[in-house]
Amino acid sequence: MSNQRSDPEISHVTVPPSKVAVEMLVVPVFEEDALTDLPGLDVATGGEITRACSTEEFRPNPGETFLTCLTGEEWRPRRLLLVGAGSSADHQENRLRVAAAVAARLACRHRVEELAFVCRKAPDRRLAGQAVAEGLVLGCFDDRKYKTNNDDVPVLRECQIVLTIPGGDALNVTSALAKGRTIAAAVNLARELANEPANVLTPSVFAERAVKLVREGGAGAEVLDETTIGELKMGLLLGVARGSIESPRVLVMRYEPPNSGDGSVLGLIGKGVTFDSGGISIKPADGMERMKEDMSGGAAVVCAMRAIGQLGASRRVVGIVPMTENMPGGRATKPGDILTGASGTTVEVVNTDAEGRLILGDALWYARELGATHLVDVATLTGACIVALGTAASGLFGRPTNWIETVQRAGERCGERLWPLPLYEDYRELLRSEMADMLNAGGRAGGACTAASFLEAFAGDLPWAHLDIAGTAWNESVNLGHAKGATGVMTRTLVELALDSESW
Ligand code: BES
Ligand code: MN
Ligand code: ZN
Repeated sequence: MSNQRSDPEISHVTVPPSKVAVEMLVVPVFEEDALTDLPGLDVATGGEITRACSTEEFRPNPGETFLTCLTGEEWRPRRLLLVGAGSSADHQENRLRVAAAVAARLACRHRVEELAFVCRKAPDRRLAGQAVAEGLVLGCFDDRKYKTNNDDVPVLRECQIVLTIPGGDALNVTSALAKGRTIAAAVNLARELANEPANVLTPSVFAERAVKLVREGGAGAEVLDETTIGELKMGLLLGVARGSIESPRVLVMRYEPPNSGDGSVLGLIGKGVTFDSGGISIKPADGMERMKEDMSGGAAVVCAMRAIGQLGASRRVVGIVPMTENMPGGRATKPGDILTGASGTTVEVVNTDAEGRLILGDALWYARELGATHLVDVATLTGACIVALGTAASGLFGRPTNWIETVQRAGERCGERLWPLPLYEDYRELLRSEMADMLNAGGRAGGACTAASFLEAFAGDLPWAHLDIAGTAWNESVNLGHAKGATGVMTRTLVELALDSESW
């Protein structure tokens, strides 16, 4: 059993779209896009484009496609795929990324091995090229690792991007494509990790695999075992791990570029619960299998660290992923138990299913210990965040406002929505404990906000952003060229943030 996945080769060409030597030509269509810059295309389809557009068999909405034949001497490719790209008013790169993913996935389904993607209208050649490269690699992902019949896995071998946008030199574009391919490959690795069943991906296996991925990328990685975790007095993490036969780990990653400019150090923290049964406050059976994805935030941090190393960011980054199962074993933490975190804060555990914030509390503290100056944590933290935002956006919390906005803009640039939610002091009130410094859960109302305000207590006074990805880490079905299952969400945003040395 192994993933036979290999990412397609991606290059760019300057020949006219009619002359590219591939089987399938892909043309993204924005609204009000008359395709007049592609003379002869409609004729080569026997008028099919005009017909399909006028009958609205094809409309230029994201995700819509139209596949037809090209005939005659004028056009080299034999197949034409139109892909809806939606409005061209803003974020054209994001729309191109989606269109490319949709095209790549469809090409794989049709056993097409090579395609050319015509990239005509976008404000920036390099950003457009990068986004298309990302989309193509993301669209090819299909996790068939545990299928025993794996012989006829479709492979898209080669993608050429026909860049007809003027400006920029070829070298710039080539490196932008390589960057896009690297970033999307990291996202796919995060998807693969989060798709792994929890019997395979235990905390120790997660740590081992993560170390390899990060070191290959050029950053440093080490694993703290249970003894070291004990020495650091991470009682919140240990309290969660108690119920499981699997011992916890803390993965520590360090990226240190030679000339790291000012003293700022980005601290990335990811929730690494390899299975969340809820513990003694056990979850209902229905849908519990999905809780193998409760390490998606950790996977995003690991794979972002890999790409950050590969791409050579100019700032220092430290990554922390606390890894554990949340199980109801005989020694498990019980409701009413009081735990003491590494920071000294005591927590009365009223619900053992609110475990993510416990392990993140110790991890946030440790990131500060290791010298982080700016914090971002990523976690499948609350069902309440799914209720609030659905699958359309991840929740964004933190302070101060300019740090939140910096993170939000990084997400916007790579097509990952983050929507700000409040951190009023009222939420902290709901966590008031008679016995200890804090409760670990504050009831159903405002659940995403009380969880965030719990974390706030561990962020010290550093700029800190908390990204709740409970609603966005998993596709319940194929979604705009992305396979069902783990999405790898926030991998791109974290890489973008680390690479963006200007805005923070
Ligand atoms: N891992 C869950 C949150 C979650 C739910 C992620 C669904 C993805 C999909 C988290 O550990 C959890 O159980 N949260 C509880 C908190 C509550 C007990 C205060 C929740 O949201 O119900
Ligand atoms: Mn839980
Ligand atoms: Zn959880």
